[in-house]
Amino acid sequence: MEYVENIQLTTKVLAEETLISPGFYTTSIRKFSNIDTSSFQEAFNTAIANLKSDYTKNDYIRDERFFNQSWDHIKGEARELIVKLLEMYCAAEYSGFILYKELSHQLKEENSILSGGFSLMSRDEARHASSLNKALLDFHIKPGLGFLKKEDRKYIFLPFSWFLYSTYLSERISSCYYITIFEHLESHPEYSIYPLFSFYKSWSEDENRHGDFFGAIIKSQSQFSSGLRARLVCKFFLLLIFSMTYLKYQSNDKLLALLGLDARKYYISTIKKVNNSIRKDLPLVLDVEESRFFEKLDICLLHISENERINISNQHILLKSIRKIPHYLSILLVMLRLFMLKSISTREKR
Ligand SMILES: [Fe+2]
Ligand SMILES: [Fe+2]
Repeated sequence: MEYVENIQLTTKVLAEETLISPGFYTTSIRKFSNIDTSSFQEAFNTAIANLKSDYTKNDYIRDERFFNQSWDHIKGEARELIVKLLEMYCAAEYSGFILYKELSHQLKEENSILSGGFSLMSRDEARHASSLNKALLDFHIKPGLGFLKKEDRKYIFLPFSWFLYSTYLSERISSCYYITIFEHLESHPEYSIYPLFSFYKSWSEDENRHGDFFGAIIKSQSQFSSGLRARLVCKFFLLLIFSMTYLKYQSNDKLLALLGLDARKYYISTIKKVNNSIRKDLPLVLDVEESRFFEKLDICLLHISENERINISNQHILLKSIRKIPHYLSILLVMLRLFMLKSISTREKR
């Protein structure tokens, strides 16, 4: 025990502080307050009962796989990639924690059901953030938590529909990210270079329960669940967020290769899983099995690379901007074509 304390003390002494920069978001509290949960009471009751059960409460315990261990044998690029991953997720989890904590507080008087749900979700995000915080200390990095002081935060206001769709989908996407990595490492343990990944199954389940809570909110709102406008809005957000997710795959290819994953295949598989998991909540889903879907996104990637190439050239800024216009137009055209592809209605199954 004394040895463990010594190690922890040494880690603390050697840790260098790094800045963690979570995003801070807010939206219309009035629109949240006006949500009538009674029309979908059963969906809310189930989602909140599942959150209250706190099934994964004891799943994030750092046992002997962490104690008396040093991760100093992970060096060079591999170490940089792991630290980058931990910092990125640490920021995202703190962002979720603060967002849900504040929503819970702001809705306390006006909508106690939503307030309760957000409070339970902030508990989970705090637990996730704490696991990542400790993981960073394993790599001698102490996350700077200056953002916990409210006066230092800069908030981004998102219109209600943007907020709802982006938060809902980020929960579903995270859930699928985590379970895909967990299942891959279970069948290829030789790539499991750090024990935090063993938490990913519970982590995925937590994020999935968060997605269920947001799913109940979306279903309770007729402007998001039925009618032509709802379908167009849904298709727009799915296309936008899936595209943004997919277009990131090249920037994470080295990290995923470290875990034995092919980045493009991993992103395609994750997006397909997400598309399947959202059928129960949304009026439609995209036809991501259609081979042209990812092929068209690959065309966008080529245009993005071209623009990056132009950006680093020595040309005048005005000339660079002019040269980039045709690529932006091509991306826009591809996105319009993707929007025109048929989607799959989920209405009959709901
Ligand atoms: Fe989380
Ligand atoms: Fe979450």
